[in-house]
Amino acid sequence: MNQVRKHIEAIQQAEQFVNESLQHAVPDVHKPSYHASPRIHWMNDPNGLIQYRGEYHLYYQHNPYSEEWGNIHWAHKKSKDLIHWEKLPIALAPSEWYDKDGCFSGSSIEHEGKLYVYYTSNVFTSPQGLPDDLLQQQCLAISEDGGISFTKYENNPIIEAPPAGIGQNNHFRDPKVWKHGDHWYMVLGTKKDDKGKVLLYRSHNLLEWEYVSVIAQSDGSMGYMYECPDLFRIGEYDILLISPEGVRDYPLSGYYVGKLDYDTGTYTHGAFHVLDDGFHFYAPQTMEDHLGRRLLIGWMPMNGRKLGKSWSGAMTIPRVLTLDEHNERLIIQPVEELIKLRTQHIQHKQLIVDSSLEQALPKLQSRRAELKVAYNLTESDAQEFGISILASDQREEETVIRYSVSSNELTLDCSKSYNGSDRVKSITLGQASDQLILHLLIDHSVVEIYVNEGERVLSCFVFPKESSNHIHLFTSSGKAVIDSLDFWELDV
Ligand code: FRU
Repeated sequence: MNQVRKHIEAIQQAEQFVNESLQHAVPDVHKPSYHASPRIHWMNDPNGLIQYRGEYHLYYQHNPYSEEWGNIHWAHKKSKDLIHWEKLPIALAPSEWYDKDGCFSGSSIEHEGKLYVYYTSNVFTSPQGLPDDLLQQQCLAISEDGGISFTKYENNPIIEAPPAGIGQNNHFRDPKVWKHGDHWYMVLGTKKDDKGKVLLYRSHNLLEWEYVSVIAQSDGSMGYMYECPDLFRIGEYDILLISPEGVRDYPLSGYYVGKLDYDTGTYTHGAFHVLDDGFHFYAPQTMEDHLGRRLLIGWMPMNGRKLGKSWSGAMTIPRVLTLDEHNERLIIQPVEELIKLRTQHIQHKQLIVDSSLEQALPKLQSRRAELKVAYNLTESDAQEFGISILASDQREEETVIRYSVSSNELTLDCSKSYNGSDRVKSITLGQASDQLILHLLIDHSVVEIYVNEGERVLSCFVFPKESSNHIHLFTSSGKAVIDSLDFWELDV
């Protein structure tokens, strides 16, 4: 059977399985509705993000056959507004010897009207499927019909291995491609001696690629493997995203702000910063749109099987990245298109919350909500205050966001919200100003917390009971003064 036919059949088989499985899927109160998530089965990394022919395309890692990772395909959604996503047919399926065990993460670029996608082909080299028994190579597939169907390039793989002594061909993945001057560039994640690395490649024709340099590597403190690198410019700076494995016991993605010298292939950069301080955020990717916005989407990992669900994972709301005034850190804000979803609005100005007088907002009706609270730090005298969301009547179940004035720490407390990990985590905020602004997005089980208009963001999954729909504002002692509070129910 020829290659094209084999690929089409692999896609049709996967689509058919998904459609049949959907007929038995039961509705789930935790399924997000304005965050992109799989209709059923497994989702991981966003791939191939691009605004192409006027629409935003989101491909993603998908197992059509199960709610657990495996048998990785590229599924596909598109959107006109970054909020409403339309499902499209699966774009890439394992069908060749080189990608028989997965079409792993990668990116896309438009060239002469066609869409080129670069992905990592994966082969398990031992029957036991041990984590290091892999062959990972870089491949190309091209679409001439607007990004719907792809033909795998006849000379795949286009990069067979990293240079000897520099990387390992069993952990060599996640190509992200961009154009600079007359050339195209690619970053790839790899490792050597259990230290993560990012490699830079260059091409003059999108088909042949030459190795340039190592642009980042772990000194041992940054984990054993770098996944999903992305490099892009904001203003005068080149931002490098990485998802290092092995730094902590839950997913970590972060970035450097630096400068890439394209002539020498050297990248100089400042400190590593965490991109998202929540418990469920990994493998983000970015794209630029017609408004010049640098948009980032991250994957929110979740294990559906463990939770007894037929689906796994979601994407964050697309986020706009800009640099702070010192050119040191990213400011991360949800796209303003989100405003379109707002319906019933409640607004309070100058609200006082007292330890004896907790303020309760009306019960959530739809479990899709947005809440923005601006605390006045000068007028408040409480030592600790915060918001409890998705709470039961007596707050036996709740997810808490708490601020401590003396330590300037923000705590995300999931010890009473079921998220599979029951974690509590505190982060120290930057220099306190007159206000603390908490901007929350709630979508059934997804919670995103934006702090101080983009200074920090925390994303997590929680799985509360259907009846746990309260929001409380509280203080531990003294009063908290709120300059303004805005609450919206959201409708898709
Ligand atoms: C990150 C990752 C990538 C890989 C893909 C496989 O979550 O491990 O490095 O390409 O997932 O699904």
